[in-house]
Amino acid sequence: MAEKISITVDGPAGSGKSTISKLIAEKLNILHLDTGAMYRAVALSALDRGISVSDVLAVESMLKGLSIAVTYDNGIQRIFVNGVDVMGRIRTAEVSKAASDIAVIPAVRVKLVEIQRQLSKSLSLIIDGRDIGSYVLPNADYKFYITADPEERAKRRLKEQQSKGLEIEKTLAEMTQEIISRDKTDSTREFAPLVCADNALYIDTTKMTIEQVVSTVLNAIQKVKK
Ligand code: DC
Repeated sequence: MAEKISITVDGPAGSGKSTISKLIAEKLNILHLDTGAMYRAVALSALDRGISVSDVLAVESMLKGLSIAVTYDNGIQRIFVNGVDVMGRIRTAEVSKAASDIAVIPAVRVKLVEIQRQLSKSLSLIIDGRDIGSYVLPNADYKFYITADPEERAKRRLKEQQSKGLEIEKTLAEMTQEIISRDKTDSTREFAPLVCADNALYIDTTKMTIEQVVSTVLNAIQKVKK
């Protein structure tokens, strides 16, 4: 694609947003920005410093000393916190929960949204998150909301862990509960909650394959372009 474009993909935990966004980025030869990774990086910084993610004042004071940089290395997103690449440490269950909790703090969102908006000014991006189409880039060219039933999302998470050779520490019921609880935190927070933007295409992927979702998204983009 020659002209600069922005595509937003919002949805709850485990809906496959990142997988789908990566594939679409490859197809369209644009970059993928995973904003969840940015909230995870801030959460990790708090955990590393022994700061409680619910202590708003302590988190605000930590933020003042954090320099966060998002860069691309051969098309792959990296996040540096105070010069250190944190990508290898942000995918644990502890960081997932802490990211959801720390994301309710407005100062955290303001800092990260600023970086997201700056990046989208100069790059063609497909951005995935919770509030991208509704709050970060309300004027994006194409908007999608991708979801699936909580149990299906929990199954996908467990399968993903298995395929990575990670130890499975949770039952399906426990993972489903964890996902429902994260949905609640993400969609009931006051500032920029998880929501389907007015003009986003809503895709329920419960009974769809990854390929079907990718082609639904690509077809929708083609249709709007005409
Ligand atoms: O997409 P993810 O699971 O990696 O995101 C981790 C947490 O970060 C998620 O539970 C809520 C928060 N988040 C957010 O509040 N806004 C975004 N745009 C992306 C993620």
